[in-house]
Amino acid sequence: MNGKKQTTVVYPVPKEWAERAFINAQRYEAMYAASIANPEEFWREHGKRIHWFKPYNTVKNTSFEPGKVSIKWYEEGTTNVSYNCIDRHLAERGDQVATIWVGDHPKDGARSITYRELHAIVMKWANVLKSQGVRKGDVVTLYLPMIPEATYAMLACARIGAVHSAVSTICASNSLASRIADAGSKVVVTADQGLRGGHKLELKAAVDAALDKLPGVVTSVIVVKRTGAPVGMLKGRDHYYNELSDTVPEQCPPEEMKAEDPLFILFTSGSTAKPKGVVHTTGGYLVYAAMTHQYVFDYHDGDIYWCTADIGWITGHSYIVYGPLANGATTLMFEGVPTYPNVSRYWDIIDKHKVSLFYTAPTAIRSLMRSGEGAVKSYSRASLRLLGSVGEPIDPKSWEWYHRVVGDGRCPIVDTWWQTETGGILITPLPGATDLKPGSASKPFFGVKPEIVDAAGNVLDGVADGNLVIADSWPGQGRTLYRDPERFEQEYFSPYPGKYFTRDGARRDADGDYSMTGRVDDVINVSGHRIGTAEVEAALVAHASVSEAAVVGYPHEIKGQGIYAYVILIEDDAASDDLRKELVSWVRREKGPTFTIDKVQFALGLPKTSSGKIIRRILGKIAEDDFTALGDTSTLADPSVLEHLIDNRLNRN
Ligand code: WT7
Repeated sequence: MNGKKQTTVVYPVPKEWAERAFINAQRYEAMYAASIANPEEFWREHGKRIHWFKPYNTVKNTSFEPGKVSIKWYEEGTTNVSYNCIDRHLAERGDQVATIWVGDHPKDGARSITYRELHAIVMKWANVLKSQGVRKGDVVTLYLPMIPEATYAMLACARIGAVHSAVSTICASNSLASRIADAGSKVVVTADQGLRGGHKLELKAAVDAALDKLPGVVTSVIVVKRTGAPVGMLKGRDHYYNELSDTVPEQCPPEEMKAEDPLFILFTSGSTAKPKGVVHTTGGYLVYAAMTHQYVFDYHDGDIYWCTADIGWITGHSYIVYGPLANGATTLMFEGVPTYPNVSRYWDIIDKHKVSLFYTAPTAIRSLMRSGEGAVKSYSRASLRLLGSVGEPIDPKSWEWYHRVVGDGRCPIVDTWWQTETGGILITPLPGATDLKPGSASKPFFGVKPEIVDAAGNVLDGVADGNLVIADSWPGQGRTLYRDPERFEQEYFSPYPGKYFTRDGARRDADGDYSMTGRVDDVINVSGHRIGTAEVEAALVAHASVSEAAVVGYPHEIKGQGIYAYVILIEDDAASDDLRKELVSWVRREKGPTFTIDKVQFALGLPKTSSGKIIRRILGKIAEDDFTALGDTSTLADPSVLEHLIDNRLNRN
């Protein structure tokens, strides 16, 4: 990397931002240095930002050492997340709006819920969960669309000490079934249907299909009426929320939880076919989510904050619900999509609700960029003061468009790098402190110690390009994998012993700014969604005509990465366009719409090492249409497969 020319465009911190923001450049330097020099003292102080029933004494008790990985923060402290997100604000801001909900179509309207209303509703919800037998420590699966009830159900779980496991509604019933089974949930919360971009999502039907595969596992399904469409209700098992809520008491005090009691599980893709249930706990998670939300977005009272993420992903957890509500913020939740009923929907919502802080994903920006500037410029967007990006690297071209067109050149962009496993943002600019470089996530947040290592684990200094590890723990870190602590240790702490391996590549420039270069494992990033290539391969091989499959990502203009599958058929003569289509819809049906394969190439053989390991690097190159430099092919067991693969490649630039 040394000597390679770097991007030189830099947007310095505007003067008014340096003056007004919570954190300016000097403050960042001082606080960051303090957080690394003495993490105990730093986090002892900042732990006080949430309310504790019983105070903590030990701040940090963490080890990344193989064989004894253990992560505990604030361990003697007790608290309750729902208390912190609701009750604590009542005296001062009971009548302030906590959540603005905006429906799928403009004619579905919007709803504002104050903190006082949220308090009453969440207590009801908590009692409804209790009435269905949910107790402290039980796992409740949430399969809910973007409706306020998703927030209520999450906070209600937190209130009674139940652990939620949210499953995104884009997961098909098969994936839902395996997540319910892996979490051991007895209770599922869903809606009759969801609405998204004018389409109906058959959520209750998907739950029914999932539960057919798991006889006797789930004892209660709580159904929220979103559309009111008639859905099958199994007597004794299925109940409408509104019927249950009529029969339960109004009051529900928050349960006293230990700092390290689990708050939620989130399943995410890894490098094997089996998704991982990342476990987040109570105290440290909330401190970290709240603090990052305040400083990264520079949230001040009066701001209207909108994060467009789905509630079924970590971004929805930390930055629609927990971080903002712990800060007493007003957080907007949108049911729909950026292109419905037209491509101006986001800008229309921003104007209508005077959104000041807007946090979205590069895939949305790229698709809106294609629709041209007119659709943006016909709205004022005068309320906007900051823009955020998350989910995948944002290319400089999209960054510039977001900055110039959406932000009228006056809104800083925070390109926030983090992961399901990190709980909150780890590398990001701070708007009052950091000069911005398009395409760079720039600097570590307080307490975060990034390092770049080479394949052998040597720590690289200065300008460097390699694998990104984090050398020490931070309070928001995921604590383990549900019922699989060994895999937690293996995936994240054994590749570089003593360090958390992010499984991302990164580059550090001469200013110490980090740019992310993408996953270095077998995970691809499709429209900001993590897809394990092994999961797609497993679904393909489950089809009767397929004997072997290898899946890689390739650059895709809108989705960031597309899914490219090499398929070996049981009988070669079966290869046809019809079979191709069938395989695509088969996987989509099995796994959900993000798993839509873009290209299916029928292959006669795959490039393998003599020990039988598929060399994905080569398949990736061919999928990229860049097969002139395939690198070292000397380890190939049978070099003759290459010619057929190259001749039949499907992505020709
Ligand atoms: C992976 C984590 C972060 C919450 C949403 C996704 C990629 C995420 C960025 C960014 C470059 C990014 C990484 C990471 N990623 N944000 N700003 N720049 N890459 O959470 O599903 O756990 O995915 O998303 O590859 O490892 P996730």
